Amino acid sequence: MEVNQMALYEKKYCWSLLLRIWHWTFALSIVALVITGFYIHFPWTNTLIEGSASWPMARARFIHFVAGYAFSCAIFLRAYLYIFGNTQERISDILPINKRNIKNLGETLLLYTYTTDEHNGRFGHNVLAGSSYLLTFCAAIAMIGTGFFLLFPEVGFISSWGGALFQTQATARFVHHIIMWWFMIFAVIHLYLCIWNDIRFPEGLISSIFTGVKFTHKK
Ligand code: HEM
Ligand code: HEM
Repeated sequence: MEVNQMALYEKKYCWSLLLRIWHWTFALSIVALVITGFYIHFPWTNTLIEGSASWPMARARFIHFVAGYAFSCAIFLRAYLYIFGNTQERISDILPINKRNIKNLGETLLLYTYTTDEHNGRFGHNVLAGSSYLLTFCAAIAMIGTGFFLLFPEVGFISSWGGALFQTQATARFVHHIIMWWFMIFAVIHLYLCIWNDIRFPEGLISSIFTGVKFTHKK
């Protein structure tokens, strides 16, 4: 007898609208920040056009700062959701801090190393992904800290903690630059793993970050 596989699944609401807004604000602002950040670091246009017909460095910096504010707002939103979001969005669901989560971490490592084909149809993020997202969240806070120290060194409290942490703006700029690489490497691995999971398992992972809905086994 032919079995209709789709009949065994049901749609369930997984990611709130706020989480999806955070994801896409974060992802798109990072693209703008990396491109303009590279330009600020190494302006590839002819600098003779600065201040004449066009003003590429000023534009790049302006876009960088606007995207930087969007990025900072997104991080505030995620911090809120870590505490007040739905079960899948809370920090307690993504860290290896209880038996269920430690078990999921082990299972995910086995799956990703092709040691097993067993897939635990967990509703939220798997714990390996969730921990890497939290690390990215911390890297983002470091970018905001160094970015605002570079932008507003004259503001009293920013210059005092910035000076205490980095001493000079040059050091902060160096740290800002190095951490950028985390986001680029993360984005490549992230996309690879999302596509890999989406091809292998029937939850509709990629569409869930647009629609908020995932498919789960019907009980
Ligand atoms: C993932 C996020 C970010 C990335 C990838 C990024 C990347 C970069 C890069 C590559 C540079 C050039 C530094 C160098 O010389 O190597 C830069 C400069 C800078 N960024 Fe960011 N940035 C990010 C977030 C932010 C945020 C949130 C702010 C805060 C508004 C910010 C403010 C600045 C400032 C003020 C500069 C110096 C501009 C100048 O000296 O003209 N950045 N950024
Ligand atoms: C076309 C591009 C992208 C697609 C299709 C995509 C897709 C997804 C999907 C399906 C998830 C949920 C995965 C899971 O359950 O573990 C997710 C989460 C996430 N993505 Fe992306 N992503 C994209 C770009 C990016 C970029 C560029 C970044 C940042 C560098 C990023 C950062 C994140 C983060 C931090 C999360 C965790 C969300 C949370 O806090 O709960 N994504 N993404």
